[in-house]
Amino acid sequence: MHIERIKKKYQRNARFYDLVEWPFRILRAAAIDELQLRPGHVVLDLGCGTGLSFALLEDAVGPSGQIVAVDVSPDMLARALEKCIRHRWTNISLIEADAETMGLQADSVDRVLCFYSIPASSVL
Ligand SMILES: C[S@@+](CC[C@H](N)C(=O)[O-])C[C@H]1O[C@@H](n2cnc3c(N)ncnc32)[C@H](O)[C@@H]1O
Repeated sequence: MHIERIKKKYQRNARFYDLVEWPFRILRAAAIDELQLRPGHVVLDLGCGTGLSFALLEDAVGPSGQIVAVDVSPDMLARALEKCIRHRWTNISLIEADAETMGLQADSVDRVLCFYSIPASSVL
């Protein structure tokens, strides 16, 4: 989907997005479990949306770890920022970027989470 269409779609959806998170809870937990995260890991959350994975990622990497959260929608990122402030998560960097073109330095992260956002094949 074209970036401008994605931004428009999530500009509409951002306010209500978290209301429909429950059907994905088990899958989300399983996906994060698969990453075998350890304390201190740096994890990239690609297409992080409103930050629904942050709590589980925080539990896994702990205060010594880092979460780099990328999304192309400023409206979804605004919700993610609210969560960071509310929970006092200071080890999360929020980045507004297109995951397909942003580029990533080799070995800059330990793990990548790409949950319900973009096909992994378009970023790897
Ligand atoms: C269905 S939401 C999923 C959000 C989050 N991963 C979750 O589990 O709730 C899809 C998200 O992917 C983002 N997205 C889609 N294409 C993207 C791209 N090319 N680069 C960055 N973010 C993208 C959208 O803006 C949206 O926030």
